[in-house]
Amino acid sequence: MSVENDKTLVVYDKMAQVHLDNLAAHDANDPERARKKRKKLTADIREAFSSLPAGAKILEIGSCNGVNARALEELGYDVTASDVAPAFIDACKKQGLRTIKFNVLKDEFPADLSGILCWRVFVHFTREDIAEALARIYAALPAGGRFMFNVIDRATHDCDSEMKDSKGEYFLGAERYYAYYTEKEMLDLINKTDFRIVKEWHKTGGYNEWLCYVLER
Ligand SMILES: C[S@@+](CC[C@H](N)C(=O)[O-])C[C@H]1O[C@@H](n2cnc3c(N)ncnc32)[C@H](O)[C@@H]1O
Repeated sequence: MSVENDKTLVVYDKMAQVHLDNLAAHDANDPERARKKRKKLTADIREAFSSLPAGAKILEIGSCNGVNARALEELGYDVTASDVAPAFIDACKKQGLRTIKFNVLKDEFPADLSGILCWRVFVHFTREDIAEALARIYAALPAGGRFMFNVIDRATHDCDSEMKDSKGEYFLGAERYYAYYTEKEMLDLINKTDFRIVKEWHKTGGYNEWLCYVLER
């Protein structure tokens, strides 16, 4: 686990409530845009895990306010939400979600998972962190298990990574680490595992372009 991710988790630990408030304010600012974004992401999540039967166990890593875990539950899966910051864990529990404290770079995975979702989390991971996380996630899934995740597209940034927290919609007033990836870099990282790419797509969201993936063990 990198120093960069560690420092970022310290920021989230202190500023989680501010981040939750920012997310809510962002959605309240343009409810129609938020609704459309939610609908599209739910459709992507449904498709990603459509090969799994109802009731299959799915872990969400970095659940934050729990909206993606809720969407998974509504799709009929047996969902475990997770995060590292206590305020995020509480926010998920308040919504009735089964929630655990879980750091993907060091903690033991729950048993019997069929799917894993990790949305906008690898943004805070170095290349080594991603290689480590992909290897751990691969090992936690059975044959046919699905993994959905995304990273910020390097094409829209003129540096590989930076410690920053720009003024704007999700400003926490402290520096989080962000890393940016090219398609080639992601392909190289994925090819270090035996995951098969089921789907790869580009997405525009907020300030960023995203590279999105569904992998299958
Ligand atoms: C930008 S937020 C995204 C939250 C949510 N998934 C979403 O899409 O809104 C990044 C999340 O990643 C979590 N995170 C960062 N490093 C992590 C790690 N090593 N293990 C688990 N979660 C981590 C943070 O606590 C935070 O909830």
